[in-house]
Amino acid sequence: MNRNDLCWCGSGKKYKKCHMDYDERIDEIKFNVLKGQCRPPHHIINNEQDIAGIRAAAVINDAALDLMEEMAKPGVDTATLDHAVYEFLTERGAVPADLNFEGYPKSVCISINNVVCHGIPSKKTILKEGDIVNIDMTTKYNGYFADASRMYMIGEVSEEAARLVRVTRECMMKGIEAAKPWHFLGDVSAACGNHAHANGYTVVTDLGGHGVGKKFHCEPFVPHVGEPGTGMLLVPGMTLTVEPMINQGSSKVYTDSKDKWTVRTRDGKLSAQWENTILITETGAEVISS
Ligand code: MF3
Ligand code: CO
Ligand code: CO
Repeated sequence: MNRNDLCWCGSGKKYKKCHMDYDERIDEIKFNVLKGQCRPPHHIINNEQDIAGIRAAAVINDAALDLMEEMAKPGVDTATLDHAVYEFLTERGAVPADLNFEGYPKSVCISINNVVCHGIPSKKTILKEGDIVNIDMTTKYNGYFADASRMYMIGEVSEEAARLVRVTRECMMKGIEAAKPWHFLGDVSAACGNHAHANGYTVVTDLGGHGVGKKFHCEPFVPHVGEPGTGMLLVPGMTLTVEPMINQGSSKVYTDSKDKWTVRTRDGKLSAQWENTILITETGAEVISS
């Protein structure tokens, strides 16, 4: 690409006024292949317009998660929650990205207690006092995606369940705090995982976070355990999710053979998850959807 060409990021600016310095900075880096260090591909870098689009999707996504705060109460079935999210998003001109994604039948994932993720909402699944519930949703708006999930505690929950929920959120936040431009993704993974282990929990490794924004899922895969200084270089303009799934017992999980979606802990113990979409900035990471 020549210095006077239009930048590859789609900003409409000349390369020399846009990502030329950025590319040169990356060219100077000696990537240690043994540590899995690698360069972020151009297609996952967002320009200002993309970031504005992702932010707009996030505003709607976060508001729908707020709505769940009011609705997730003892006695409500999870299909009712799913339907409310569908109505909320579509009334605003947005689309629930989960719906029909690889054949997924609903608009959100609702995962209770020993369900790790991808729980399918159903009229037959009724929230009860003491449940810990993850509601995970992704909003597509004007072609851009924002992905987040929260834990909802139904009525009074046990001390051990509440501790798992709190520590899991701390794992996510530690990961986000470790996300810095010109550092590596492994820093994020290590911060998440170390906090979980320090609290006597295990980390699910079969699933992880992901790049998000112009697509629902893109590079990089975001592990929630790892070594600092490994993996993909983080650079300004990247948007990705941090979404640790933390288990009380073993880290082993299985997928329901009948519905092909619901992921549960093998030992039947509790699992919790929180998910934010973050933007790598010039100075750190900014939470975009939560
Ligand atoms: N929102 C989930 C994630 O964090 C993906 C759900 S895909 C679905 O990546 F098909 F199960 F909805
Ligand atoms: Co999600
Ligand atoms: Co996600």
